[in-house]
Amino acid sequence: MTILSGDRDTFQLATDKITIRIPHTKGGKTETEEYNREKIREKYGLEPQQLIDVKGLQGDTSDNIPGVPGVGEKTALAFIQKFGSIENLYEKVEKGEAELKGKQKENIENNKELAFLSKELGTINLSVPISDTLEDFKVEEWDKPKVLELFRELNFNRYMERFSLRGEDIKKENPKDLYKMVDKSKQEVIELIKEQKRVIFYVNTVEDKNPEKIIKERIVGLTIFNEMTQEAVYIAINKEDKKILQTIFEDETIKKTSIDLTKLYLLLKQEGIDFKGMDYDIAISSYILNPTNNKPSMEKLIEQYLNIDLQEWEEEEPKQQQMNLFDTVPEEKSGKQEKYGLYSYAISKIREITSKQLEETGAQSLFYEIEMPTIEVLSNMQWNGMYVDQKELEQFGKELTEKLETLTKIIYEMAGQEFNINSPKQLGEVLFEKMKLPIIKKTKSGYSTDVDVLEKLKREDPIIEQILEYRQLMKLNSTYVEGLKQYINPKTKRIHSFFHQTITATGRISSTEPNLQNIPTRFELGKRVRKVFKPEEGKIYIDSDYSQIELRVLAHISQDNNMIQAFKEGQDIHKQAASKVFKTPIEEVTKEQRSDAKAVNFGIVYGISDFGLAEQLGILRKKAKEYITEYLEQYAGIKAFMEGITEKATEEGFVETLFHRRRYIPELKSSNYNVRQFGARVAMNTPIQGTAADIMKIAMIKVYQEIQKRGLHSKIVLQVHDEMMIEALEEEKEEIREIMKQSMESAIALQVPLIAEISEAKNWYDCK
Ligand code: CTP
Ligand code: MN
Repeated sequence: MTILSGDRDTFQLATDKITIRIPHTKGGKTETEEYNREKIREKYGLEPQQLIDVKGLQGDTSDNIPGVPGVGEKTALAFIQKFGSIENLYEKVEKGEAELKGKQKENIENNKELAFLSKELGTINLSVPISDTLEDFKVEEWDKPKVLELFRELNFNRYMERFSLRGEDIKKENPKDLYKMVDKSKQEVIELIKEQKRVIFYVNTVEDKNPEKIIKERIVGLTIFNEMTQEAVYIAINKEDKKILQTIFEDETIKKTSIDLTKLYLLLKQEGIDFKGMDYDIAISSYILNPTNNKPSMEKLIEQYLNIDLQEWEEEEPKQQQMNLFDTVPEEKSGKQEKYGLYSYAISKIREITSKQLEETGAQSLFYEIEMPTIEVLSNMQWNGMYVDQKELEQFGKELTEKLETLTKIIYEMAGQEFNINSPKQLGEVLFEKMKLPIIKKTKSGYSTDVDVLEKLKREDPIIEQILEYRQLMKLNSTYVEGLKQYINPKTKRIHSFFHQTITATGRISSTEPNLQNIPTRFELGKRVRKVFKPEEGKIYIDSDYSQIELRVLAHISQDNNMIQAFKEGQDIHKQAASKVFKTPIEEVTKEQRSDAKAVNFGIVYGISDFGLAEQLGILRKKAKEYITEYLEQYAGIKAFMEGITEKATEEGFVETLFHRRRYIPELKSSNYNVRQFGARVAMNTPIQGTAADIMKIAMIKVYQEIQKRGLHSKIVLQVHDEMMIEALEEEKEEIREIMKQSMESAIALQVPLIAEISEAKNWYDCK
């Protein structure tokens, strides 16, 4: 019998009758090699089962088998060749007959338990009850088209490739059989849309570098798909066609289906048109069905959902590398209507497929009631932008530069010479050759001077502290002073960051160009960045932040009685944790301590190790361990939830939020321990963080709609996960505070109250 495996652990199973066939790469080619009992004796000088003892001593980090510290493969082999087994080794050690010396002796003697545990872990368990016979596993002919259909439905994209189901053997459909390109006058098309009350379309744009634009593109055409006749028609949109866009897009009763409606919202707004009647965005629906397939483009979606060969077009037009979902084509080339016809057909088809899947997974209301309305909220937020006080920014830049100059002088003095601190090469020479600091890591080009290395050297010389600070200030200056400047719109004097809805795997919103969600909060100078963001004259920022939102969600989902009780009584879990960890009476806990303790709460509930927690808090591992145990004893329901959810996720393959946002976790089935651990953390974190994200979206929609309903002029300008900010007119201030509080706290009814903390200020820094 032959065992085919890529895992060398199977060698322990080799006998005269059982051969292990193992792949190995040689000069880029994969070949196989066979191991039976004879070959193993030859190669290792041991019987196959003795390899378990070798592993017991040596350990295996990828399987998390500890082994005996300080013992590598060579030593382990030598020991087992000499003593035959771990049992025998320790017998001899105990009788004093093993003749070991020094450090090695110590290591072996002190780690008997680890050695035996590792041997047990390294042993393949052969007494598994299996009732199937070999005959049951015989591979039979399979129905490729059927399998392909199933894989497609399940989004098993990698499997499609692996079983070459996208290759030659599956006949691709010819796009020309699927839809027909027809010619119609603009008027005819508009009449038809008005009559049908719905429109499926693809938007064609060209680049427009006008620096005043938020989206540097312009609409030049619409390709519209008629589902009744399966016909696609392209209409060019010229400068004088604003009326056409208005007729279609400002009519709320015409339901629109396309891809990336958020971008379209902004494109239309740039023409002075309000986009109403958003109905279905296929990028959003496909993201909800599988959030790890993020930022889906038209090509990706066609590949994923349809059996169409796109190659024909790809050859003619080299793929453009860009983030945008819509193509940007030069005007004269916009005659490539066939391709856009196909896109419009694909949008209709993908809508059909995804909407069926949304129904099957119970995610319809998530899509229609949360995600679709969120598009407009986020687009509008980007359109509003955040006002930046350029003088304040200059001032901040100047301060940083001065600080950097001082630091430079100090560093030169400490080093005893001048050099370019920004050059890793020169810095390396100064630190390791001139100052003779211990070399921690080398790179191809010389000495490593990255942060990890410097952190380790901190105690060796005071210069390191200065260099670390220098680096931090340089980074602040380049990302937030120089970096922010280039994003300020010359017309609005505002920064219009992108808020993405299809990027994170948890359902959270993310931000880029620039990322406003990760401006530092931990150190004062970083926080200062927030001072440059201000409301315009006569306005004020109203900021609202959920209090302990994720812990409240966790209390609700895990049904932990103690935590539910604590929240009902209005207790502050972060503060309690701080009081315990820092051994401070609860009323004396400082803001910083409370903030530090968040790491404890979030760490523990999302499965941090004692080691990780010790590192984060700078305490002993033993203390961290005690703390985790105590914490999980106090909140026993949370422990049960964490174990239960991982098990459930392993079984079902996915986790869900309260609103049925689903995330698949294939990592839980990995053969690699670390990958599985990652999967477990994802399983614990996603339902909680994802539900908090769902709640925030609901709250934002409520706030947005309420502002509109009351005809107020205040605007949402920012969201940072559990925080939302409005630039409010002074005279609307009280009303806005009330709307925010009310909408956020009533977004959903949990078993514990939701609390939103409202503050107001004349800049972002002073909020809270
Ligand atoms: N967060 C984290 N680790 C921290 C701090 C914050 O992971 N040390 C994340 C969590 O996902 C948290 C979110 O950032 O839900 C928002 O942070 P924050 O508002 O500071 O946390 P809350 O628990 O809401 O605390 P507070 O009552 O101070 O608002
Ligand atoms: Mn909060």
